[in-house]
Amino acid sequence: MSFFSFPTDFLWGSATSSYQVEGNNQNNDWFLAEAENKIKFSCGIACDSYRRFREDFDIAKSLNHNSHRLSLEWSRIQPEEGHFDPDEINHYRKVLESLKERGIQSIVTLHHFTNPIWFAQKGGWSNKESPLYFDNYVKKVISELGGLSRIWVTINEPLVYVYNSFYQGIWPPGVSSLRQSLKVLDNLKRAHKKAYKSIHSGLSDNVKVGIAKHLRFFSACSYFNLGQNNIPAFLRRKYFNYKILDELHKEKTMDFIGVNYYTGDFLKFDFRDLFGKNCLKAHHKQRKNFLGWYVSPEKMFNLLMDIKKYNLPVLITENGTVETEDKMYADYLRQHLFYLDKAIKSGVKVLGYMWWSLLDNFEWDKGFSPKFGLVSVDENQNRKVKPFAYLYKKICTENKIEV
Ligand code: BGC
Repeated sequence: MSFFSFPTDFLWGSATSSYQVEGNNQNNDWFLAEAENKIKFSCGIACDSYRRFREDFDIAKSLNHNSHRLSLEWSRIQPEEGHFDPDEINHYRKVLESLKERGIQSIVTLHHFTNPIWFAQKGGWSNKESPLYFDNYVKKVISELGGLSRIWVTINEPLVYVYNSFYQGIWPPGVSSLRQSLKVLDNLKRAHKKAYKSIHSGLSDNVKVGIAKHLRFFSACSYFNLGQNNIPAFLRRKYFNYKILDELHKEKTMDFIGVNYYTGDFLKFDFRDLFGKNCLKAHHKQRKNFLGWYVSPEKMFNLLMDIKKYNLPVLITENGTVETEDKMYADYLRQHLFYLDKAIKSGVKVLGYMWWSLLDNFEWDKGFSPKFGLVSVDENQNRKVKPFAYLYKKICTENKIEV
């Protein structure tokens, strides 16, 4: 048995996003897509965290989390173009203050997949003015709430958003076009850069700004491979993982890299799609979780070693799983922290680790059945801490793991 200690001041906590937990968000493009039956599930009241946030933060506190990642819902703060709602700003002030009162450091995301309806109707992120609209919202948030957080994530998973919403077309606005995807990605990057500058000019230097980048480990499926499977693996590594980081790093618009890590994929060449298809055949020996995602903790280490070259602090902004048994959540957590510790020992400066998610919540196009939470939420929104959350509590309390 060995013990691995984490750096002092390490941030331990969990993450959520507004649409997935708040409930009753009726003013954004996801709500609209659900109402038009373009999505199979409806989010409805979700976990009712809009009203129960204090209870949620009490739970996080009782589990000895010293930090919490959450997102602000743009469509509440700016329900119409040119109009900011003072009551909603006040609501988020109370939310961030309640974290502070509990001694929990907030990590605030400004955009987590959902957009106000007025913005979507103007073409959303495919409109070349979109970075300006976003920047107006960011400036307002910073002037009103900026003092309440030291860590800001501008945009959550820009590439996942582009891929699902504009390439595969399975999320709103349901577009499938490479040309549109590239345009949207460009607008998201411009939006991030503007937001980076606005946050820094509105606040002191003591603030850190970054994006939350979904990193996936892409390998070529080695079965029936005549070399061609390397093409999608290479393209995804380059365009899905690193190109945006190269660019933002070069332009010095990241103070840290937020990493959302879940899994690694094996890719097969597909002549209809440059980016290939996932190989889900049984010939890959790795265990799959309840969602069919390969559990590959060692690949998180490989990815962290790849991004060491940027010489920036890293914050694990999401890591988590969906399993059928509590013990498997505990194993997943322990294994990933083992490799996180290994990355730290290999020179990666890691600021902290956020489990996805605090609560079982609305998992986008998959509805409520995937359970990522440390805490379950029943039909009446009653919360119950799961056993593996106590293992995490021990780790957060002692700042070390035992493996
Ligand atoms: C997203 C979350 C999502 C999680 C699990 C991440 O890609 O940021 O919103 O719930 O993965 O799929």
